[in-house]
Formats: sequence, structure tokens, C-alpha cells
Amino acid sequence: MLDNAAITRRQLLVATSMVCAGGATSAQSLAGGAAQSLGKLAGRSSRLFGFAIHPEVAQKDPVRELVRQHGSVITAENAMKWRNVENAAGMADYTQADRVAAIANGLGVPLRGHTLAWHQSTPGYLTSATSAEFIRAQTGHAQAMTQRYKGRIHTWDVLNEVIDGEAPGGSGLRDSVLSKLWGTTRYPALFELARTSDPKAKLAYNDYGMEQDNPWCERRRTAVLRMLESWVRAGTPVDVMGLQAHLDLSRPFSAPVLLKFFDELRALGLRIQITELDARDSAVPGDIATRDAAVASLYRDFTQACFSHPAVEMMVMWNVTDGDSWINRWTQGQRRSDGQPMRPLLFDAQGQKKPAFVAVANAMRDASVQFEGYG
Ligand code: XIL
Repeated sequence: MLDNAAITRRQLLVATSMVCAGGATSAQSLAGGAAQSLGKLAGRSSRLFGFAIHPEVAQKDPVRELVRQHGSVITAENAMKWRNVENAAGMADYTQADRVAAIANGLGVPLRGHTLAWHQSTPGYLTSATSAEFIRAQTGHAQAMTQRYKGRIHTWDVLNEVIDGEAPGGSGLRDSVLSKLWGTTRYPALFELARTSDPKAKLAYNDYGMEQDNPWCERRRTAVLRMLESWVRAGTPVDVMGLQAHLDLSRPFSAPVLLKFFDELRALGLRIQITELDARDSAVPGDIATRDAAVASLYRDFTQACFSHPAVEMMVMWNVTDGDSWINRWTQGQRRSDGQPMRPLLFDAQGQKKPAFVAVANAMRDASVQFEGYG
């Protein structure tokens, strides 16, 4: 799934020139950016900025303070996933999900609901269910979540990760427990359920691997546009494309390519949310300064592109510091060949601002295009 191509020559050159020229990496720029709240900077162009949080981690500094200072929207990293809410049949426990909702409430910021349906969050007890049993359980879960948090969710990620650009036969759809037991033709029914149950929540389709400039991302963009177009044509109540944006320094980035995709989504009447942003630096050799400069350069290009497009509403980081990033926790993920942890976020493990923070802050500050709202 992940490309292992080496970092491009251009990315290394950009990184090196940023280090040499002092660019976004100088102490002065870091200090200048330090005073800024990213949530406030995003707000200048009517956008939101925030983080995915784990309720335990979000209670301790530095994460607690960073979320308070910079977040204007939050997502539950895992607490609202089906598997986390309902481990055994009929034994739903909303304690953790409620804690995240309470944190958002306490901060006075909107909450993204993540996610009603995802093959990876299907509870274990359903792996050998019949289709009828699965449909009953998935419907019940989606009803329960949308009712429990009714009126409190800015956007629900209704459906997560059903695209597969390499699917045999060219269907563009992932083969999974959802496609088998729920059925691909019934995906729109989940959006209808959510709209009826919580009419105020915006409804998103959320997926990864569409933000960069290589054939793998291109196939995934083509597949998602085909699916969304068919839904929109059929009147499915989908409002938002959620782009996870787990960026990877091993893949090229092209602002024109991304902006063309944004235009295509907007032409379908959709708004765009960046939902799980981070940047893997497993392909960047060198010392920390070099790596951080390469990460900052990608964040700068990506944020500038996003904040130049009227359909982009928000940018949510997947976790807060390099120390709590899922990239270093997730056992199935890539690792660096030098054995060092990756540095994918805007703050280091101590909560200090990295060059990527300055790059994002500057891109937000320079944004000249406002989010257009929902027409
Ligand atoms: C990840 C969490 O961060 C991990 O803690 C968990 O073990 C697996 O899921 N796409 C998504 C997110 O939509 O829900 C995933 O979150 C990361 C990839």
C-alpha cells in the first residue's frame, strides 16, 4: 500500500536550502511563530484547525495545553469507533466517547465524529455474522451514535476507507467486511440514516492516499470521484470529502494536481476537510534538522494549497506531538531504517514547536481565500 520510493531530489534540495538559508527553521522564525494560535490563524480565513485526541493523553501536558492553545476543532482518535464503543454484542460503553465530547464542550470547540462505519473498527464479535445480522448491528450502532451525540457533532465521518484503486476488475472499491456484509450498493443508506437521525451534522466520506502526485494516488482519486459522482447523482446526502492526508515524504507533492482534485470535488457540490494530517519522514535520511526542514517544506506546500481553495473548511492533525503520534505507535506501519522514531507532526515529543509549525502558521497567515461555507 505504501510507496517506498526514495525521497525526491527536489524535496532534499528544498530541505537543504531551508536549513542553509535559515528559512522557516531559524530560531527567530520559531520564536515569531510561537506566539500564534493556529486555531486563530485558521479562523482568519473562516477555517478551523485542530487535533485528533485520546482522552487520557489530552488530559496531560504538553498535549492538554497545545490543544487548548491551538485547537478550534477536535476529533476522537479512537474513542468513537464502533470497536471501541461496543466490544461485545449489546454491551455498548460510551465512557471514552463521552469524555472526548466533554473535552470539546469544555474547550468550546466543535467535535468531528469519527467514524460510523469502517472495516477496521468492526467489533470482533461480528466477524462471522451473516449479512442480515451485520446490517442490523451496523444500523443499530449508527443510530445509537448519531442519536447520542445529536446536535453536538460538526461533521460525521459516516463512512471510512472503502476505496481501493487497485481493486480487481476495476471496481475501485475495497473488498472488506463492509463490502461483503453491508454491501457496496448500500453505502448511501448510511448517509441517509445519519441525515435523518442528526439533520444538523455535516456528513463526510473519509479516505486516505489522494493528496500526492503519483499513480497510486491518482488511481485512488479517480475511484473516489467515480463513487462520489454516482452518489451525488442519486441524491445521497453527502456534504464533505474528508481527506485524511497522511502525507509521505517518499511521494512527490504537486499543488496543481491537488487543486484540480479539489475543483473536481467542489464541482460535485462537496466541501473539503483535511481530517488526519501528518507527514511520514521514513524516507528522509540525515539529522533531525534536515528531516524537520523536509517535513516543514511539505507542510508549507500542502497548507498553502489547502488555504488557497474556497472549498477547504478545516485542517485536523492526527494527534498532537511526535511523542503521541500513531505513526510511531502503530505496529503495522513503516519504520525508519536508522531505527529513529518518525517526526510527523508540528510539535516535538516535548511539545516544542518544530519548523513545520512555522510553515503552517505562515501559510495560514498568508491565506487570501476564505472558506466559502455551505451554499
Ligand atoms: C488509527 C489510530 O490512530 C490508532 O491508534 C489505531 O490503532 C488505528 O487507527 N485512518 C483512520 C484513523 O481513519 O481512524 C486511523 O486511526 C488512522 C488511519
